[in-house]
Amino acid sequence: MTEMAPRLIQAARAAEARLAGRATPFLFNAWYIAGFAEDFSRTLKRRTILGRPLVFYRTTAGAPVALSDRCVHRSFPLSKSKLEGDTIVCGYHGMRYDEGGQCIEIPAQKTAPQGICVRAYPLREQGPLVWIWMGDGEPAADLPLGDWATDPAWPASNAYFHLKASYIALHENLLDLTHLSYIHAATFGTPDYAFAPYEVETDDAAGRFAVSRSVMPTRLPPVWAKPTGLEGRDAARIARSEFSGPSVHTVNVRFYGLDVSEAERPDTQITTAHLVTPETATTTHYFIHHGRNFGQEDESITSFMHEQLTAAFMEDVEGLEAVEAMVADTPVEDRYEVSVASDRAGVAMRRWIHRQAEAEAG
Ligand code: FES
Ligand SMILES: [Fe+2]
Repeated sequence: MTEMAPRLIQAARAAEARLAGRATPFLFNAWYIAGFAEDFSRTLKRRTILGRPLVFYRTTAGAPVALSDRCVHRSFPLSKSKLEGDTIVCGYHGMRYDEGGQCIEIPAQKTAPQGICVRAYPLREQGPLVWIWMGDGEPAADLPLGDWATDPAWPASNAYFHLKASYIALHENLLDLTHLSYIHAATFGTPDYAFAPYEVETDDAAGRFAVSRSVMPTRLPPVWAKPTGLEGRDAARIARSEFSGPSVHTVNVRFYGLDVSEAERPDTQITTAHLVTPETATTTHYFIHHGRNFGQEDESITSFMHEQLTAAFMEDVEGLEAVEAMVADTPVEDRYEVSVASDRAGVAMRRWIHRQAEAEAG
């Protein structure tokens, strides 16, 4: 019979106590993706973000609106109510809220007393993305995603997964390139990837954590080889995955053929923003904005890559959902996890989230 030595279990538990996990409060003072532009329309839409039920719509002038979904009278969902012009009329007793969340009419009385309102959340549109500020007060930060996300030189496509797993597990997955050869064996993993050298960068002050990995020479799997024209050629594949806050994780991959001299190498990059919005402690809105800086005119590259990458990210979704189900099925006293050397960036990131959550809680 084999069993983990009690001292190893104890050490794993002691290390985990300082890491963010499912019980760690969310970080509210950050921009998160609320949805894509089309999620804000003239049809009321409910979405829960950081455990807060919200209702989305667009005003007649086209401005996106996000309000708390709970009518403050008797908690009826505003998302099951009626959009009239720029206002919502509650489906239970008819209280009317404007786009700023103010109650402006109570049918059973002459006037609506001042100050009755539902919370309205600040939103910002950036190309196809709509960001929401979940913190108290006015937004205290710039939007976290760079200009490439709206630059026509970077044709892009978008995807969404409703992930039944913790957002922290998703960030850790993205900071861990060692899973590519296994979970992604059928898509973008190649066996040599698991053994390639990697570098870890951690910047606690800035809340940035990154892993980079260079594989060369390598043969690229079709998802990368076809669009870059590197099929059947020895190539270099240089990937960098960076966590830059609770809602944004950017994975950049550069490729070149080793048969081309340094001076003649095209700058071929594929960048994927993994945009992570916790729904609850164990479910996540997982948005993808995926762009490239080449083949701008070729629509077929966009659709090929979209299809291939969506299939590959589905492998992460299925893997993380299997993890979440396993955690739920495991007795609490057995829920320890052992970290190894390649988890360094993920562990540093989880420590940072844990500390941030403590700081936000005051
Ligand atoms: S619950 Fe909304 S008006 Fe009564
Ligand atoms: Fe993955």
